[in-house]
Amino acid sequence: MTSRTKIDALLRSAKPGIEVTVKGWVRTKRGNKNVNFIALNDGSTIHSLQIVADPTIISEETLKQVTTGASIAATGMLVESRGAGQSVEIHADSIEVLGIADPEKYPLQPKKHSFEFLREIAHLRPRTNTFGAVFRIRHAMAYAVHHFFNSKGFCYWHTPFITGSDAEGAGEMFRVSALDPKNPPLTEDGEVDYKQDFFEKETNLTVSGQLEGELGAMALSDIYTFGPTFRAENSNTTRHLAEFWMIEPEMAFYDLNDNMDLAEEFLKYLIQYALENCADDLAFLEKRLLDEEKTKPAIERSEMSLTDKLKFVLENDFVRLTYTEAIDILRNSKPNKKKKFQFPIEGWGTDLQSEHERYLVEKHFKKPVILVDYPTEIKAFYMRQNDDGKTVAAMDILFPGIGEIVGGSQREERLDKLTGLMDKMGVPQDELDWYLDTRRYGSAPHSGFGLGFERMILFITGMTNIRDVIPFPRTPGSASF
Ligand code: 4AD
Ligand code: MG
Repeated sequence: MTSRTKIDALLRSAKPGIEVTVKGWVRTKRGNKNVNFIALNDGSTIHSLQIVADPTIISEETLKQVTTGASIAATGMLVESRGAGQSVEIHADSIEVLGIADPEKYPLQPKKHSFEFLREIAHLRPRTNTFGAVFRIRHAMAYAVHHFFNSKGFCYWHTPFITGSDAEGAGEMFRVSALDPKNPPLTEDGEVDYKQDFFEKETNLTVSGQLEGELGAMALSDIYTFGPTFRAENSNTTRHLAEFWMIEPEMAFYDLNDNMDLAEEFLKYLIQYALENCADDLAFLEKRLLDEEKTKPAIERSEMSLTDKLKFVLENDFVRLTYTEAIDILRNSKPNKKKKFQFPIEGWGTDLQSEHERYLVEKHFKKPVILVDYPTEIKAFYMRQNDDGKTVAAMDILFPGIGEIVGGSQREERLDKLTGLMDKMGVPQDELDWYLDTRRYGSAPHSGFGLGFERMILFITGMTNIRDVIPFPRTPGSASF
């Protein structure tokens, strides 16, 4: 058997005049009784390869089975193509149908399908150009994440998915239990007795690896986590998933400024990496976005192409300002005065909604923004308390079209301040005794942040719904596949 060549490698480096075998899935077949043109895609690249099949060489029976979606192996001479839009094609000596796809039933017809429809067939949608491009970029970004941190001497630190603590204190967790839900053991008070459960306590899927990440940083100096995170928040939006991937670096001896510098460098590195390594897929997605923009009313259309947007973020410093300054800008903004915000800005102390974040980024500054020093009450217990007594050293990075993409902070390293705030916020100290030990023994200033991986993929690919940048999305009411 001739060994199989992937189409990406073939288009990059193969010279016409050699015999090759390619394997993949048929996108389209067209032609007449004298010649057939098959567009074959194997997922290694956005580009399909043209296979020219001569019915005097390839049997009619075989050609009949070569329909959209079928899997085939084709062997033949690689020749320069006379057709537009491709450099080479294969003149097939033999075609083997590996798996048929009944044209009456195959859901992916060679036409435009809506993303809503494609979500219902998430098991097949990676075979479309758009999703192939998105998932190849997703892979490239995951690789780039590891490359970035490895090159800086960070340790990839694995934190548990099953935890007994609520790191973010938001109480939006999925329970993990091995008890029989129909007949759970009960305590004397009639409550479910988790002492008899698998872990002999209540456990949940993690909402963040941060607390365990801090333990790593307090020994290895610089660590990062990169894993799935679970939140049972009922946010049915285009930016929330119940299961999403997060990258959480944690650095000993970093203050908030060091933290912001690293985050900005990291985001820019990922964008640069995509521009340098995913050019074909980005070009395809850029065109897709352009076509989508054309269907919108003129005032809603973006003036920038996808690559323009990526380069713009790369080439500009992020704006850094405090929450208090942001509130002033928002309070005096046109949409606030004209009551256009769904959540009007009234005073200091309330959390910002995504409409506010996007106003700052897209309308006011027209640049990515890092907001720092948020009110203590609206942030998590572990953030370092500022001297003003009312804010913490938090930082959120806001991106155009996305809103919050990164959340992070300098951590409270002073035991008394930390336990004081925990008591105030009702975070049980006994459950987090292990965490507090890092403040008891060799405590040190440290900082970290979390990047929502899917939100970053949204930004880089120009897709609009977070369900379309993860292969199998988990959202309220939806856990198929
Ligand atoms: O701001 P968050 O909740 O921060 C943390 O979890 C910290 N422990 C991070 C840290 O300091 N180590 O989440 C961080 C990021 C958000 O900025 C957002 O990009 C993403 O995670 N995110 C979500 N992405 C998709 N779906 C959701 N439901 C998300 N919730 C947060
Ligand atoms: Mg946040």
